[in-house]
Amino acid sequence: MTDAPKRQMKLGVFANPTGNHVASWRHPDAQADAGVNFAHYAEIAQSAERAKFDMIFLSDNICVREAKMEALSRSAQYVANFEPLTLLSALSVVTSRIGLVATASTSYNEPYHVARKFASLDHLSQGRAGWNLVTSALGAEAPNFGRETHFDHRERYLRAHEFATIVTGLWDSWDDDAFVRDKESGRFFTPDALHTLNHKGEFFSVKGPLNVARTPQGWPVIVQAGGSEDMMAVAAEFAEVIFCAPLTFEAARTFYDKIKGHAASRSRSADTMKILPGLAPIVGRTDAEAAEKVRHLESLTHPVVALEILSTILGGIDFSGYDIDAPFPDDLPATTNASQYVYASAQELARSENLTLREVALRMAGARGKNVVTGTPKQIADMMEEWFEGGAADGFNILPSHFPGGLNDFVEMVVPELQRRGLFRTEYEGTTLRENLGLARPGNRYVEQLTPIAV
Ligand SMILES: Cc1cc2nc3c(=O)[nH]c(=O)nc-3n(C[C@H](O)[C@H](O)[C@H](O)COP(=O)(O)O)c2cc1C
Repeated sequence: MTDAPKRQMKLGVFANPTGNHVASWRHPDAQADAGVNFAHYAEIAQSAERAKFDMIFLSDNICVREAKMEALSRSAQYVANFEPLTLLSALSVVTSRIGLVATASTSYNEPYHVARKFASLDHLSQGRAGWNLVTSALGAEAPNFGRETHFDHRERYLRAHEFATIVTGLWDSWDDDAFVRDKESGRFFTPDALHTLNHKGEFFSVKGPLNVARTPQGWPVIVQAGGSEDMMAVAAEFAEVIFCAPLTFEAARTFYDKIKGHAASRSRSADTMKILPGLAPIVGRTDAEAAEKVRHLESLTHPVVALEILSTILGGIDFSGYDIDAPFPDDLPATTNASQYVYASAQELARSENLTLREVALRMAGARGKNVVTGTPKQIADMMEEWFEGGAADGFNILPSHFPGGLNDFVEMVVPELQRRGLFRTEYEGTTLRENLGLARPGNRYVEQLTPIAV
């Protein structure tokens, strides 16, 4: 009897234009206009594809961030970027195997538009599209869409659930073999192969059918990002990949068990959902080289930007009354649960290394609250292996500190180490994103006589 193939990690690259580090745009190697530079993205996608990454991921906000102008005007985050689906469409023609995943918010979009665009991308890319189904994180999007205030958390997820129900319903509008395009008989499609959704719900009314044929993957892969109970309820039903942001092994394992438990409650097997925590690696051939890379990035970070980001990740604390060169304060007001955890981490960091507010801000803001791991390829691979084998991750969404250098370091030093350990592929298993992720192609609910999912 032959052994079962070894379970391997799935890897995504989070393609924040100039990189994950808040000062990445100032790095000497950086393409400062990366957000609107197609050659830059083509290089990233092709390099990730050569390394056999599962997917490239583009996040999205449909607004310019709100922050004090002095900080905003010194940061490259979400101020001058391509619209992600337009960019992925262009990338689909300069790549052939890597998955193409983008955020499209369920808060400020129409489901018909989203269904149509991702279906088109799936055709263009021959089965490599993925939709990151989010509820908008930034309230600043609301006034761009005729609303004075953002939807509250619960309503956002109720809307997201109905939205996903409609999008998947529209993707089933046609049987796989609907379009006979028979020149002889003059029949373009088989009438029985067309299914009209006729959806009327709390938030949306969508008749259908979709004016795009069923796609190579049946449905583009559905991704979700977040961590709340509301998010998990939607994910249990729809998500096939989860992006999350735990900072410790324990937090990652707790989240992993919980969300897979939610999926099991919907009779889904654990391997139909891949959990990819974010990981921001800073790789050096030696510890000293890695530490020097961190120091260099910190030296490029303007203190005003660092304080603004620290304020945001701590839930909106106003630091204007604090001396930036005094010891890190231990009397900050409590805000949200998540930020309390970040605050405790900040205090611990300050205490253990005797740091000032400026030093904590530079350290924590640099990574924008993400899980940074600094070290040699072996140390980083050890950490990834521990999380993967320890039931905390099915792979990782890699957030290079800066492009292209941070990605090149990971690709040239860490990927070969993972491959040597048999933890990562040396060749793509399939041609579609689903095949590479090991996810089944969904059947069409009308063909399989399934009842459309109730809202
Ligand atoms: C890894 C990750 C990526 C995200 N990407 C986006 C994004 O591109 N656009 C967006 O509006 N929100 C994004 N979000 C925010 C989530 O959609 C969500 O609004 C936020 O996590 C709060 O919801 P929660 O309470 O369910 O976690 C992301 C969250 C995570 C963890």
